[in-house]
Amino acid sequence: MLIYANRSAESVMFADTLDDLVKRHPTRLEVIHWLESDRGMPTATGLRNLMPSSPASDAYLCGPAVFMDLAHDALVAAGLSPDAIYREVFTSIQANPFHTSVTGPPAATDVGTPVTAEVEGEDYTFHCPPDTVLLDAMLDHGIDAPFVCREGNCGACAFTLKAGEVEMRVNDTLDTYEIGKRVRLACQSVPVSGSIDMVIE
Ligand code: FES
Repeated sequence: MLIYANRSAESVMFADTLDDLVKRHPTRLEVIHWLESDRGMPTATGLRNLMPSSPASDAYLCGPAVFMDLAHDALVAAGLSPDAIYREVFTSIQANPFHTSVTGPPAATDVGTPVTAEVEGEDYTFHCPPDTVLLDAMLDHGIDAPFVCREGNCGACAFTLKAGEVEMRVNDTLDTYEIGKRVRLACQSVPVSGSIDMVIE
């Protein structure tokens, strides 16, 4: 059984592939979608109600930490041993192994990339130093930018890129729809254009 939480039907990654797998292996795979657009945010009780009354096999959790905590609680409440519950854990690397600033064209001045940022209604301008993520630059400039994990897996630092380009080191939370809407993670975004215009709502 796969319990798959997404914001809406349009944001379900691999939906067609999963449908196809269920059709071809109806006795081996069951997929239950939890769509926030229909049910709101997942809850431990809600997840528990979707599970078998006595889960007998191992469980594998993947997603934002808060969601995995909820699912863990639901599984334990259903009687599964914590030893049978496995979580996906990511660790960020500290530097970008693909960064080629020595040979590539300069994307910014020595002091960094000029950034215009609207943060919860307040306008700021500052420079983001080379090879520095936007969240760090904002915090260094005293801007009260939102964040939680700083590892690219909670989405609390999401912003919309109005102009310019960034390179995200890690993205474990934004889906292709959000990326297409130019949503990015400030804790993982390094400017790669001559200037940046961004908004955090
Ligand atoms: S602070 Fe969690 S993804 Fe950036």
